Order: sequence, then structure tokens, then C-alpha cells
Amino acid sequence: MDINLEKLKDKALESIANAKDPKDLDDIRVSYLGKKGEITAVMQRLRELKEEERKEFGKTVNIAKSAIEEHIRLKQKKFGEKIIAEKFKREAIDVTLPSKKISIGHLHPCSIVYNDVRDIFEKMGYTVVTGPEIEYDEYNFEKLNIEKGHPARDEQDTFYINDKVLLRTQTSPVQARVMEKGKLPICIISAGRVFRSDSVDATHSPTFHQIEGLVVDKDISFTDLKGTLTTFAKAFFGENIKTRFRPHHFPFTEPSAEMDVSCFKCGGSGCRFCKNEGWIEILGCGMVNPRVYELCGLDKDKCQGFAFGIGIERLALLKYEIDDMRLLYENDVRFLKQFD
Ligand code: DAH
Repeated sequence: MDINLEKLKDKALESIANAKDPKDLDDIRVSYLGKKGEITAVMQRLRELKEEERKEFGKTVNIAKSAIEEHIRLKQKKFGEKIIAEKFKREAIDVTLPSKKISIGHLHPCSIVYNDVRDIFEKMGYTVVTGPEIEYDEYNFEKLNIEKGHPARDEQDTFYINDKVLLRTQTSPVQARVMEKGKLPICIISAGRVFRSDSVDATHSPTFHQIEGLVVDKDISFTDLKGTLTTFAKAFFGENIKTRFRPHHFPFTEPSAEMDVSCFKCGGSGCRFCKNEGWIEILGCGMVNPRVYELCGLDKDKCQGFAFGIGIERLALLKYEIDDMRLLYENDVRFLKQFD
């Protein structure tokens, strides 16, 4: 037969070696081993040979065919490995990169502040009590020495439900509810939502939160009040904080005061944060007015005590240096995330 099998095999092996990609390789395979392939054609022509020659030549063709098949297999393997290597490279993961933080819920800044304040007072022996948000005028005003026509009523624009029932404007009615039970000593705090018909701006909201405190026993003095609230201020704002008490007026306490803390930004020398005052107002307080004991059924000659009221939002704004109260209510997660 006039076929140079060696040459054909070499040609095939060379093209296999030069195949660019799996598609190219498959075309080469078809061109030699496919139905109309060159090796297939040679095999078909074996019939033309005499038996002796056929056996001999058949062997050589088979060897050439196997060699081509083997080279194709190896080349396919190579391509396969290359594809996998490229895929690995493409999809490589840098396990040393910091992982994405899984975002789970966390406390609102007002809850954080409330929890802090509550913990401080609980450590001092206070018990937490609650009171209703829908309250009687009697508890919100009357029993706290704010009778009808009292100017203090105008200061706290009230949402009335009817002429006896309202949305509490302060947490102070809890004081009346506790005193009314008549059991001494009293040492409570009470936190919750209060309502005032104010329009919304950077420092006002129709609803906000307060923490009320009340201590009633025998021999409680203004010194106890000062010591307690100074201890609280230092625990909340830091040991270096100083406090001062300025005379003020609340109908349910006599004498009454407002407590300021030395500015925790400038240490008291005056800055923008404290409006150059060096002091920041934190809460209202005073010795329980004897008239309130009478109105709540306690013997005014047998008890003394003090009370205080703290605005939770105000504390949060100060502590986190937030300049607009609305941010606390809008629940924009970009804002809230900062308190995670
Ligand atoms: N209830 C007052 C307010 O809403 C805050 C307050 C002041 C409460 C003095 C007190 C207190 O118990 O003694 O403005």
C-alpha cells in the first residue's frame, strides 16, 4: 500500500501537540479517527491487502491508531487540567480577608441609655415600677399639687381623652400611685413614654421618655438627694464630672432644683457643646412637697423624701452628641447602626 503510516502518525501527533483548545483537538480527532478520518480510511483499505500483509500492516495501523488515541487522551487531560486551574484562579477566595459582619438587631440608643440609668439606680437599691400611659388627670396633675388653673398645666400641653383622662405628660404620676399605697420606705424608679402636644423640631417631640425617681422614708434630706444624683452623674458620665444644683420650681417638690453637670466635652472651661456655660442641665429634682404627701394619703409629718425626673432622649442626645432629636425617632438604619 502506498501509504506512509509513520508520516501520517507524526503529522497527527504534531497537530495534536499544537491543538489550541478542546474544540480544535476534537476536530483533529475527527479528521484522523472519525468516520471519514485518515486512519479510518487506511483501515478500510486493509481489505485490499493479502491476508499475510493485512495482518502485518493491520498491526502497524493499530499501533499508530493507539498512539494517536493516547496522545489525544493526554492532550484532553491537559486541557481539562488547564480549564480547572483557570477556574480555580478565577474563583479563588482569599480566606484571609475579613468576613462581612452579619448584621443582627441591636438596642436603640434610648434603650441603651435607659438600661444604663436603670442599672445604676438598681445598684443603689432602687426597684423598678411601671405606671399607665393613659392616666387620670387626678394622678398626672391633682395629686402632684397641680390643681386646675395652675400655670404648670399650660407648660405641659396635654392630650386630653376626656376631662378626666389624658395621656400622661410626665412620669411623675407614678409617684402618686406608689405613695398612695402607703408603704414606706419607698425607693423606686419608673421609666416610660410621656406625651405633650408639642410640634416636632430638633428639641421637641409629641412623645418622649422620662425616668422618674422617688425616695420616701424618715430622715431623708436634701443631702441624700445631692449625694444620690451626684453618684448617678459620675456613674453615667464619668468620675471626673462635677454637679451643681440650681434653684428651680416644680409644684410637687419644695425646695426644687435643676441639676447641671460640668461639661463632659470641655471639662467646664466652656465650649460650643455647653454654649460656653461650662455646665449642662440634666434633670429636675427636689424634696417631695408636704402637700403631695397629704394629697396621696401619707402623713406629712412622718415622712421626708426626694424625687427626680430625667429625660431619656435628652441624655441620649448629650451622651452621643446628637444635635437633632428627630434622628432618634426616624429609625434610619444608617443612623442606628452606629450604636451596634
Ligand atoms: N415631671 C417633671 C417634668 O416633666 C420632671 C421632674 C422634676 C420630676 C422634678 C420630678 C421632680 O420628680 O422632682 O418636667
